Amino acid sequence: MGKNLPIHIAILGFGGRAEGMAKYAVEHPDQLQVVAVADPQPQRRQRATALFGRQCRTYETGEEFYHSNQSQGIGVDGIWVISQERTHAELAVPALERGLPLIVEKPLATSIRDAYRICEAFDRHPVPLTVPHSLRYLASYRKVREIVASGVLGRILHIHAVEQIDHQHTVGYYRRGPGMYRSNTTFLLAKCSHDIDIIYWMMGGVRAKSVASFGGADYFKPRAELPELCSDRCPLATGCPFFGVHYAAKPYVVDKDTLAVGRGDLCAWNSGAEQVDHQTLIIQYEDGTTADFTLKCFGDNRRSLQITGSHGTVYATPTDVELVSYHPARVEKFGSDRLPVQPGTHGGGDYALIRDWIEAVVSGGQTSSATVHESAEAVAVCIGAELAMMHHKLIEMADLRRQQPGPEALLWPVTH
Ligand SMILES: NC(=O)c1ccc[n+]([C@@H]2O[C@H](COP(=O)([O-])OP(=O)(O)OC[C@H]3O[C@@H](n4cnc5c(N)ncnc54)[C@H](O)[C@@H]3O)[C@@H](O)[C@H]2O)c1
Repeated sequence: MGKNLPIHIAILGFGGRAEGMAKYAVEHPDQLQVVAVADPQPQRRQRATALFGRQCRTYETGEEFYHSNQSQGIGVDGIWVISQERTHAELAVPALERGLPLIVEKPLATSIRDAYRICEAFDRHPVPLTVPHSLRYLASYRKVREIVASGVLGRILHIHAVEQIDHQHTVGYYRRGPGMYRSNTTFLLAKCSHDIDIIYWMMGGVRAKSVASFGGADYFKPRAELPELCSDRCPLATGCPFFGVHYAAKPYVVDKDTLAVGRGDLCAWNSGAEQVDHQTLIIQYEDGTTADFTLKCFGDNRRSLQITGSHGTVYATPTDVELVSYHPARVEKFGSDRLPVQPGTHGGGDYALIRDWIEAVVSGGQTSSATVHESAEAVAVCIGAELAMMHHKLIEMADLRRQQPGPEALLWPVTH
């Protein structure tokens, strides 16, 4: 059954991403209101109070939120789980069990087991649900999906995709920020489950059969000549691209065993971060189609997608699409002149997905997001790729889906 506007939500995990998403509530209080926030970090709870007022109740964890509201009913219309990825299943499943509409951030989980737990809870309680694979909401990728579904490309034979991340983001988030430890996430899962989901979307639901992957941390190896923290005494102090970027920011706690992670003045090389700085995947799908995807951790935030079929190729970025047909030879371009412009972050994808979720909550229907099952498939392929890279072997996805290794499988083996 649908709900009335404004939709009252609880946000579990109020870090940078949650604050960005919650801006929608600040700008559209007639549609969305944040009435509860849970976060273990006191400064994040204070930030929530500053943004949403004293009437917004705060809790130290998502678990405490559910526990405190057990007897008197939860008092919200929906839940947003925007905590770190290893906690998603713990915080999403109770929402589903209570039949509450849900946004649960990508990656859906950090193990196939946890991703399937969310899927099973959803199958028992199919509430309006969004996994914010925001690329699916971009006008350009929707156009690509439309082209693929129309059949004009003929038989799809290969998909090629690249994500080239700004190196400052690589260092800020994955070498000295919340994404630095594999016990929480991997770079591929955190950043590229989006791209792997898009490839799966373009494959029209045909699943991956086998995955190979190569990569590692080959630039950011520890450097004995550099100190652990940025300072004027560092020999790279004047030329280092990463010095001072976050240096002025107030350091926050670095703690591998708790969930608060990050310190802005950690040396990019000596931070103890466990992530790769480049990785390439090769995927074979069950119908024989192949795909390759490369995560580049240096660059300027470009993304590209190329889908090659027997009759044509489509080239796409988050803003432009070019369709090349072979017989007769023809090129058609779709740029900002032909694609709708959407306001907001991630090319407008974030606000589009929030609006879509609100509409689904009001109507009691479903969203046009990736389903949990589709998002779980992106998790499975990313985990398959990690294991392929770590163990230098081909991963058969049917075996992996059956074995469902836990998150510990993603930790590097300890070498002494
Ligand atoms: N869809 C996108 O484009 C997109 C973009 C950025 C981040 N994300 C995802 O959003 C999530 C959060 O990312 P972030 O950058 O904000 O990370 P973050 O570390 O800044 O924020 C996560 C917050 O969750 C809190 N937390 C941890 N355990 C908790 C618990 N048990 N209960 C309640 N809160 C808890 C932490 O204290 C932290 O404040 C991640 O899954 C990330 O991958 C998605």
